[in-house]
Amino acid sequence: MKIDILSVIPELLESPFNHSILKRAKEKGLLEVRVFNLRKWAVNDYGQIDDYQYGGGAGMVMMPEPLANAIEELQQEKKYDEIIFMTPDGELFEQKTANLLSMKENILIICGHYKGIDQRIRDHFVTREISIGDYVLSGGELGAAIVVDAIGRLLPGVLNDETSALFDSFQDNLLAPPVYTRPASFRGWEVPEVLLGGDPKKVDEWRLEKSLELTRMKRPNLLSDSDL
Ligand code: ADE
Repeated sequence: MKIDILSVIPELLESPFNHSILKRAKEKGLLEVRVFNLRKWAVNDYGQIDDYQYGGGAGMVMMPEPLANAIEELQQEKKYDEIIFMTPDGELFEQKTANLLSMKENILIICGHYKGIDQRIRDHFVTREISIGDYVLSGGELGAAIVVDAIGRLLPGVLNDETSALFDSFQDNLLAPPVYTRPASFRGWEVPEVLLGGDPKKVDEWRLEKSLELTRMKRPNLLSDSDL
C-alpha cells in the first residue's frame, strides 16, 4: 500500500512511521509513506497557502489553489483510491474504517490547519472525511498518523502472527480480554487457572466471557441489545 500525505508541518510526521510495526512494514516493502510539504505549491514566494475567509470571521482558511495543484501533480503519478481529509467534522474513525482502508492500494491524506480548507477542495477532490474523535486538534497530522498506524498494521504480512489482528479489540465489536505472561505468580497475584490448564476450548470460552464482561462494563454501546 502506498500512502501520500499533504501537510504544512511535515516535521510532525517524521517519526511516527519509523518504529516498531510500521517500520517493519516499510522495510518489508508492504507500506510506503511519503509526506509532502504543501508549501511547495504555495501561491507566492512567501510560502502563502492560507487566506482570510470570505464573509468575515476569525481564522485563516487553506486556499484551494495550492491544494488543487498539489493533488493534481500527485495524481499524474498515480490514481488514488481515496483522497482523505482529516477534519473534526468527518466520519468518526473506527476499526471498520481501518479494515476497509487497509484493502486499498493508493491513499492520499490531506492534513488541515487553521479554520480548515476551502470547501471547493472538499467538494471536488476529497472522497472521504475522517475525524479521530470529538475534539479539535491544531492540525490533521496527528490524526493522519493514527489512521496510517491503524491501517498499516492490518496489511497482510505486517504482523508476525497474521491472526493476531483478528483478536484486537473492536474487530468483532468486543474489547479484547485481559492478557498475562510469566511468571504465573507475581507478588501473590495469580494468573487465572484456566490459562495455565492447556485446554484451548476452555481458554477460548474464558476469553469470550471476559470480552463480553469488559465490553458490558466499559463500552456497552458496542454491544447489540441481544448481547447485553
Ligand atoms: N483536525 C483537527 N481536529 C481533528 C480531529 N478530531 N480529527 C481529525 N482531524 C482533525
